[in-house]
Amino acid sequence: MAGLPYIVGNWKMHGTRAMLGEVRAMDRAAQRFPKVQVAIAPPATLIYRAREAVELIGIGGQDCHAKETGAFTGDISATMLRDAGADFTIVGHSERRTIHAETDADVKAKAEAAFAAGLAVILCVGETESQRDAGNAESVVGAQLDGSCPSTEGVVEKLSIAYEPVWAIGTGRVPSIDDVAAMHASIRAKLVAIYGSAGADVRILYGGSVKADNASELLAVPEVGGALVGGASLTSESFLAIVGAAASRGEA
Ligand code: 13P
Repeated sequence: MAGLPYIVGNWKMHGTRAMLGEVRAMDRAAQRFPKVQVAIAPPATLIYRAREAVELIGIGGQDCHAKETGAFTGDISATMLRDAGADFTIVGHSERRTIHAETDADVKAKAEAAFAAGLAVILCVGETESQRDAGNAESVVGAQLDGSCPSTEGVVEKLSIAYEPVWAIGTGRVPSIDDVAAMHASIRAKLVAIYGSAGADVRILYGGSVKADNASELLAVPEVGGALVGGASLTSESFLAIVGAAASRGEA
């Protein structure tokens, strides 16, 4: 597994200018944790200001349109995110897949557009509770990867996968450590099948109710290269506790 642990906050539809102080505090504190890569995906309205407010941490979008420009009222292209100061974008979050009915093909097109605009990509996959209960979690996630991984050449080093079981998002429930390990191993095998040996270096993040008190255990799982954090990324205090857990990974 390549690289530093990657801890990313997804603010979803939370945040106005009043929250920029949290971003600044995260950025200042991140300087104490040089062995962790830290990033925040604020709402699009804050990307430019967040970029201006930080020196170290990454700033990203939560979604992008697959086209560069056009008659798509309300949408934002990857080029626009980049222009606003983003260095990455999330694509395929389960809230987009469910609420906005995004398909694997949509997610793939968005990821390819993001790469074309020079952004790194965090591509989300994850099963629902009924799919897990039916014993289909790994096949569902495998099919999502087959359908949504970008085919663009030479971008694998800018791709991260976030495994976010839908039933663990915002619920306080997390899969067992064994289930996280099994799923991450399965995702790794699929990435190698898709990308060849380069697939061994794609970072795989875990997301879904990551908090300070479970982060150390989750981040110690083989093939867990970081975390995509929702609710606990909204304050610098709770987010930095997770960053701190990542910094001490392997030192315990
Ligand atoms: P929570 O950390 O609030 O469960 O959200 C996870 C998530 O959806 C991050 O993208």
